[in-house]
Amino acid sequence: MGNKTLLITGGAGFIGSHVVRLFVNKYPDYNIINLDKLTYAGNLQNLTDIEKNTNYTFVKGDITDGDFIQKLFQQYQFDGVIHLAAESHVDRSISNPMEFVYTNIIGTVTLLNAARSLWKDNTDGKRFYHISTDEVYGSLGEEGFFTEETAYDPRSPYSASKASSDHLVRAYFHTFGLPVVVSNCSNNYGPNHFPEKLIPLMINNIMTNKPLPVYGEGKNVRDWLYVVDHARAIDIIFHKGVNGETYNIGGYNEWKNIDLVHLLCKIMDKKLGRTPGTSAQLITYVKDRAGHDLRYAIDSTKLTAELGWKPSLQFEEGLEKTVDWYLANESWLKNITSGDYLKYYEQQYHNR
Ligand code: NAD
Ligand code: DAU
Repeated sequence: MGNKTLLITGGAGFIGSHVVRLFVNKYPDYNIINLDKLTYAGNLQNLTDIEKNTNYTFVKGDITDGDFIQKLFQQYQFDGVIHLAAESHVDRSISNPMEFVYTNIIGTVTLLNAARSLWKDNTDGKRFYHISTDEVYGSLGEEGFFTEETAYDPRSPYSASKASSDHLVRAYFHTFGLPVVVSNCSNNYGPNHFPEKLIPLMINNIMTNKPLPVYGEGKNVRDWLYVVDHARAIDIIFHKGVNGETYNIGGYNEWKNIDLVHLLCKIMDKKLGRTPGTSAQLITYVKDRAGHDLRYAIDSTKLTAELGWKPSLQFEEGLEKTVDWYLANESWLKNITSGDYLKYYEQQYHNR
């Protein structure tokens, strides 16, 4: 592979930390720079196992700070960028859309500008890889899948900000010849997932015997992929993807929210030595999310056929691994669920 200096943004977050770990361990000749603002979602505890590796450097900073980003690109002379930094939670985008506009849109353009000016004379071997989401495609009915050709139809401030950033990345390819690649992935789950999101929130609430807040009737469907499989896809697309192309990533693993919560309750009753059916009694239907997308499902045929990626884990196996990780890392969860998280939880779920 040769030497490369790579910028990974958002590497202290959920998916980013798995991507950083994979690259630091798999590519000892690469120089990996993890740039993260350490918002509420960024946590360096996610990376303690690799933080001392000589091919790894952490830099604290904000992707919306143009001068800082230009200097960082000059200092490190990056060969590649894998851009994951974002505001990522739909519910927060409903209560505070502006943060999503700043980080997801302005932050992405700030990085594109820096890459463009650094690589203006030579783009050989350079690559800007933008990590996006299936939510940009909108909401499916009972049938069908999102393909790379599906028209964009974002419906939350989060997905609209991601859609906007995707368009800008592609515009820099067409207008300026910037070597870009984009992927759109379905819902991830696994270790280090912040407990504002469905699966870790339910695990945390089951562990602490709190109500399990299911939005609406629990009939919304998500397509779940183990986070390490997403990181593997990112590795393959970064190295083998074609400039200007988009790749959908998904697990062919659709679950209605209520069925998923019941499965989690069943797994956790067993692990916690509770009588079967105990945790399910905590299920509480609450007011629906505004503009709640009904169903996401990804067609990842292109990625499998052209680049040879396939998910490696069955869902039940991945979910058990995930629950085991949370049970073995209670201190990680406790550190996060004290302080600001309690305030967030109160605002989000009080009177719902
Ligand atoms: P996350 O919220 O767990 O992590 C985001 C990281 O970005 C955090 O470490 C945070 O500190 C950092 N960050 C936020 N604002 C920043 C800024 N202005 N400057 C620098 N760093 C900043 O998110 P995640 O779930 O790991 O998602 C990562 C990426 O993958 C996002 O772009 C998201 O849209 C995309 N994605 C997520 C999923 C999913 O299921 N979680 C699925 C598909 C795509
Ligand atoms: O599809 C990819 C997207 O998946 C990513 O782009 C986002 O960053 C990520 O947050 C995720 O978005 P979702 O909105 O699908 O994930 P979330 O975990 O917030 O919700 C999953 C489903 O569970 C959704 O239908 C809403 C529901 N839900 C969620 C929470 C937090 C509940 O019923 N109760 C809850 O308390």
